[in-house]
Amino acid sequence: MARVTDIKIAPSILSADFAALGNEVRAIDQAGADYIHVDVMDGHFVPNITIGPGVVKALRPHSKKIFDVHLMISPADPYIPDFAAAGADIITVHPEAGAHIHRSLQAIRAAGKKAGISLNPATPVDLLKHVIELTDLVLIMTVNPGFGGQSFIPLFDKIRAAREIIETVDHPVDLQVDGGVNAANAPDAIAAGANVLVAGTSVFKDGPDGYAKNIRALRGDA
Ligand code: DX5
Ligand code: ZN
Repeated sequence: MARVTDIKIAPSILSADFAALGNEVRAIDQAGADYIHVDVMDGHFVPNITIGPGVVKALRPHSKKIFDVHLMISPADPYIPDFAAAGADIITVHPEAGAHIHRSLQAIRAAGKKAGISLNPATPVDLLKHVIELTDLVLIMTVNPGFGGQSFIPLFDKIRAAREIIETVDHPVDLQVDGGVNAANAPDAIAAGANVLVAGTSVFKDGPDGYAKNIRALRGDA
């Protein structure tokens, strides 16, 4: 079980100022972010369109932190090499995005990157049992993917169940929650077993002067 001191904060740049993304990434890096969470959407798997590998590549020189790339695109497999080459450290895919999630996770690791699997709110947690050996990160979606600023769905039993499955393997696996995470619900997500908190709105809400304070609040040491 993750101790509170091990908690990592992954600000989602979906909530950043897109006209100043390089500055925004530097600002969250300096404010104490652990991962830079990049939400990639295609207008097909989810109803919104965001950014692609070219933007990841352009942002890469702005931070040495871990680039945590969340693919909400279908198909995802053809783009894994592009995001790997662009500088992603973790690439996370949804099982519904293709016919063969097992193969997708293998492809991410074959590209030399950490492999993540993301479960939508209604996607059963049990499928993790069949792929956990191939997985470096489990993302539990606490909103339906597509937009920032939605309300947190309290899927604490699901987070606990994912933690139990993670504990069956010997290699390190991050347990990430994503969607509507804020300082009020973060302690319960951590207590349920999450060790990485993705947060867009609750990090970026006050502009750059608030980033460090908001990241500390998510860690519970504000
Ligand atoms: C939702 C994305 C999330 C989201 C987080 O599809 O995967 O990363 O943007 O933003 P907030 O914290 O505003 O819910
Ligand atoms: Zn995300």
